[in-house]
Amino acid sequence: IKCEAHMQIKKVGVIGAGQMGNGIAHVLSLGGYHVILNDIDKNTLEKASQNIKNNLERQVNSKKISTAESNAALKLIDYTVSLEDFNEVDLVIEAATENEPIKQKILNSLLPHIQPHTILTSNTSSISITRLASCTDRPEKFMGFHFMNPVPVMQLVELIKGIATDQETYDSCLQVVEKLGKTAASAEDFPAFIVNRVLMPMINEAVYALYEGVGSVEAIDTSMKLGANHPMGPLELADFIGLDTCLAIMNVLHDGLADTKYRPCPLMTKYVEAGWLGRKTKRGFYDYTGEKPIPSR
Ligand code: 3HC
Repeated sequence: IKCEAHMQIKKVGVIGAGQMGNGIAHVLSLGGYHVILNDIDKNTLEKASQNIKNNLERQVNSKKISTAESNAALKLIDYTVSLEDFNEVDLVIEAATENEPIKQKILNSLLPHIQPHTILTSNTSSISITRLASCTDRPEKFMGFHFMNPVPVMQLVELIKGIATDQETYDSCLQVVEKLGKTAASAEDFPAFIVNRVLMPMINEAVYALYEGVGSVEAIDTSMKLGANHPMGPLELADFIGLDTCLAIMNVLHDGLADTKYRPCPLMTKYVEAGWLGRKTKRGFYDYTGEKPIPSR
């Protein structure tokens, strides 16, 4: 018999309206949840609203959803610069920048505005859930809720329990994932969880292959696309994720597991130091200033 004791989630607050946050608001609204999307920056909220409209339209055009579903979803999202508007949410998904002090500061300023039953989660790709939970008043109601990019397309959500997370909290989050039509994978709270524990060392190894001259950007990406059936080559994917994010995750693995096999490739560090962060800065392993990306090396 399935236990139905866990709470019904109706209203969800999302913090951070960047690439991940707007994708999360998009899929939650399509799943029928009332969403409050928060960001400190008004312009980011305006851009997010436009992105959500555009991405819903893509799905209407490719007949994945109907116009009525898209319109209904848009009506379910409210935008706000104030965390005071989180006073009625049942679940919070924090998707701010991948920086631990910033995340802790946001969680602290959020606590006075939420109800005792509210579940707190973070979309962090690698920061310790147990450590984030410990700076809140409810570690048993805190866990990792990790979406993949691009959120409306990727099927997986990683659910990560901290050491104190209770089963009811986990079950409530699992129910949300199921309602979104996505698939959950459960990960323990160790550095970078599952997806990034496996994916980032592969990307890092591809950068080493480039650094050591084993192959060109094009040869490395073609090899993995056609030789291992990956939808994107590892260098193209690194540019898509952002080289700063890839480097930050490698450092979390290196520091957290204290094993030299996670040593970030010096070439990746150099690109980040140069501000060549991938697609978002129009230069990474490819140059994105023209019509088609061209290998930059
Ligand atoms: N919103 C809605 N729809 C979108 C979208 C978005 N943001 N982005 C793409 N799509 C849709 C397109 O409209 C298209 O739909 P259609 O097939 O119905 O026409 C479909 O997705 C495929 O897109 P494209 O035709 O533009 O391009 P591709 O076929 O190359 O697919 C991709 C793009 C889905 C991004 C594919 O290249 C891919 O799967 N890449 C790998 C992505 C990946 O590995 N992500 C995980 C990164 S790791 C991570 O996120 C963890 C983090 O912590 C770092």
